[in-house]
Amino acid sequence: MSRPFLEIKGVKKAFNGRTVLDGIDLDVERGSITTIMGKSGIGKSVLLKCIAGIHRHDGGEILLDGQHCIGPNCGKNSTRLSYLFQQNALFDSMSAADNVALPIVETSRISRREARRRVDRLFEQLELGDVAGKFPAEISGGMQKRVALARALITEPQLILFDEPTTGLDPQRKNSVFTMIAEYRRRFDFTALMVCHDIPEALFVSDRVAWIDGGRIRFVGAPTDLEVATDSELLEFVHHRNGLLSDVAGQRGRSALFAEWPALRRSFDEFVVVTCTTERRRPGSELGLRRFASYQAAVAGVSRLQRARSEIYFLDERHFGFAVGADSAGSVHEQIAACLQPANDAAASDAAAHYVWSARSYPLARLPDPAALWNLVDLPSPATFATPLSA
Ligand SMILES: Nc1ncnc2c1ncn2[C@@H]1O[C@H](COP(=O)(O)OP(=O)(O)OP(=O)(O)O)[C@@H](O)[C@H]1O
Ligand SMILES: [Mg+2]
Repeated sequence: MSRPFLEIKGVKKAFNGRTVLDGIDLDVERGSITTIMGKSGIGKSVLLKCIAGIHRHDGGEILLDGQHCIGPNCGKNSTRLSYLFQQNALFDSMSAADNVALPIVETSRISRREARRRVDRLFEQLELGDVAGKFPAEISGGMQKRVALARALITEPQLILFDEPTTGLDPQRKNSVFTMIAEYRRRFDFTALMVCHDIPEALFVSDRVAWIDGGRIRFVGAPTDLEVATDSELLEFVHHRNGLLSDVAGQRGRSALFAEWPALRRSFDEFVVVTCTTERRRPGSELGLRRFASYQAAVAGVSRLQRARSEIYFLDERHFGFAVGADSAGSVHEQIAACLQPANDAAASDAAAHYVWSARSYPLARLPDPAALWNLVDLPSPATFATPLSA
């Protein structure tokens, strides 16, 4: 097995006798996006600063590509790492282009002309050409973030440390920053270590997540491993952050459905299951995020249905469903199609992938219990309509 690109072994750090990091162990694979989560004040920024060489750690070791020397005092090696500060830290008195040029003008002996040429090329690649001559105050928050990311990329780093890259941004901008990180990672081929609290959005672009608590890493795994994690404090942290994760994973939906099943059977005739049929993408591809956004849009669309229906129950991360009366069962198919169309159109227009949503309706009387919904394909149902909602 190849060696991890970044190895953090037993790293300790204390301030004035107060221990913050108490033996951090973490391996980061080359080319991956790893997200570190944890409570406020737990030491996440301190860890990033130790890696960047801004703080000197008291014990343990940090190896980048097998070498000890990382941080700003490592001569030519310092270009291997960039640090994206939470507040962008752009200089107000400099244009966007000058801000981006700064790291190469400061740390290498290249001429101003060569620096300018590299900046121009990067701006072109990142489609930032329009803002090159503008000052930070003249461009939007989202653009500032992109300029800051350009500044982090100009030195062609192998590792980028992101400290809460989305704090203070609205949900849409957050998503675009995550998409941007995932896309740039693929194009520029760096390894990313990110501190972030945005669950589940951050998870859709992360290959691995680590949870830091009590000065140590208490959980590390794939984002999907969170769904089967048992550490009660971790679960509390994750679910406290965003109940949507359990919605998407179906946990809440499942227990609610089981509890309300008898009432549903009394009041409704059909149970409609909506399926999103995009295949699951590797976490870290921006498609994962789009799938999630599209799923959210679909749920929002369906919840706008006018006809009598019950709660929407999230069955698992690809299925949700609701009960309907006999009078609306026949027409619900068209209604869902109409509601989901905008989500489908949006997804198809900005992604190579194609989203197909389908819905099937099952007579509630013929379902022995809600668990039968997990075996839908095996369920004989003459009333099933299985046409994809849009192709
Ligand atoms: N330069 C410093 N001197 C003394 N104490 C510090 C210093 N930097 C950080 N600390 C302390 O270390 C602890 C961890 O701080 P850190 O900034 O890493 O928290 P964090 O996990 O990033 O929190 P947040 O989510 O709020 O950003 C805090 O108690 C903080 O007061
Ligand atoms: Mg911090």
